[in-house]
Amino acid sequence: MQPAIGVFDSGIGGLTVLRAIRHLFPAARLVYLGDTARVPYGTKSPTTVLRYAHQAATFLLGRKVDVLVVACNTASAVALDELASELPIPVVGVIEPGAQAAVQASVTRRIGVIGTEGTIQSGAYERSIRLLAPDAAVSTVACPLFVPITEAGWADHQVAHLSAAEYLAPLQAAGIDTLVLGCTHYPLLQSTLAKCLGPKVGLVDSALATARTLHPYVGVVSGGGGSAEFFVTDAPQRFCRIGGGFLGMELGNVQQVVLEN
Ligand code: DGL
Repeated sequence: MQPAIGVFDSGIGGLTVLRAIRHLFPAARLVYLGDTARVPYGTKSPTTVLRYAHQAATFLLGRKVDVLVVACNTASAVALDELASELPIPVVGVIEPGAQAAVQASVTRRIGVIGTEGTIQSGAYERSIRLLAPDAAVSTVACPLFVPITEAGWADHQVAHLSAAEYLAPLQAAGIDTLVLGCTHYPLLQSTLAKCLGPKVGLVDSALATARTLHPYVGVVSGGGGSAEFFVTDAPQRFCRIGGGFLGMELGNVQQVVLEN
């Protein structure tokens, strides 16, 4: 039996994590849910994001997944502990793996974190980074425009470049050597962010680090032959076009679903 891994995000951002999981576990059965009817999560209150996260988890449990990946920093920041204690399957988030990767990558211990308003306000990255490196100087900036820009397929548009210059200026002034992309949408802006920051700042994307945390639950499954099913709560064609373009593959039949309370 192939292990089944459920992955959810508010939209296409979690595909950055799905891509890394598929790379490490090519035989796994993947079930992806993008809550596109309610994206963005990053501007919503913790109570609302918690409710959405429960609904997404219930849907994926219904698809018989063996492990759940909260491929959304905003939902990981507010809902991971509760989901992990309440669900009957292992639950993995993206913040701790991202923090670990940042601490490993940084030489000067001046670390920048960008994320949604919800993620930045939660303080989850500062806590995780300081647990690993108490001497780290962590500077954070919320970048609320980045999610709509990537969802619109505008990752390389001048709007993305101008927004990046504005958002990243305080982090450049703080002299960071490492920037954590604390939102799963942001790796889609990687080249725009790298151009803005120059070669001296390393970008940390938690996707691969998160995928690695699945080893104890998924084990080593040799060979390919895995599969991926995609579900969204709105606009499946749009998800197919933008998400498929990003993954460089046909997403096949993306089904629209309604999440139950
Ligand atoms: N991609 C998600 C995250 O990592 C959510 C972005 C949003 O919906 O605001 O936070």
